[in-house]
Amino acid sequence: MFISFEGIDGSGKTTQARLLAEALRAEGREVVLTREPGGSDGAELIRRLLVEGGAERWSPETEILLFNAARRDHLERSILPALERGAVVVTDRFADSTRVYQGATRGDLVDKVESLHRLMIGIEPDRTFVIDISPEDGLARGAARGGTEDRFESMGLGFQEKLRAGFLSLADAHPKRVRVIDGSGSADEVAARVRAAL
Ligand code: TYD
Repeated sequence: MFISFEGIDGSGKTTQARLLAEALRAEGREVVLTREPGGSDGAELIRRLLVEGGAERWSPETEILLFNAARRDHLERSILPALERGAVVVTDRFADSTRVYQGATRGDLVDKVESLHRLMIGIEPDRTFVIDISPEDGLARGAARGGTEDRFESMGLGFQEKLRAGFLSLADAHPKRVRVIDGSGSADEVAARVRAAL
């Protein structure tokens, strides 16, 4: 099974991906916990180019190409080999992030994102959990965390609001695959909601 976690910056999806992976391992399953951008050696190199630097460093079109290059490497080197040997793959972000961050928020690039996805990636997770919180709470958590990986967070509250709307409309469009999980409350409370939905 291939499971992805999605959400705006600071939504808590990274914690939830880890908690689900730990719970499935405790049941005796092999679980590969991974993330995007990244998740393989080559993709982690591309990640540095994407998450550091100023907001205007790349155009949305160039970003789409870089995210797909990273995803293709992640797929070839990590995801597909794991699925083929029967492991559960839990990824912190996948193609829905590109649909929302690059496709829906900065110019209407939805068609280009879908075409490139079909051409170069071509698979969807079996289940996707969107961890939903308000953009104010997300940015507050991101600021508390600090660090240099804040290129997308630096785009501001209006951008985070567009992202949230983008994830919620993806869930509407794909009700079987994508489930929205209320991200408020403690990590354990949110994890229980994820387990119930799974
Ligand atoms: P991530 O490491 O998940 O950051 P966070 O834990 O803060 O959510 O992702 C890094 C940034 O990359 C994040 O701001 C979202 C962005 N991103 C895209 O814009 N498009 C994509 O396809 C992916 C995978 C991530």
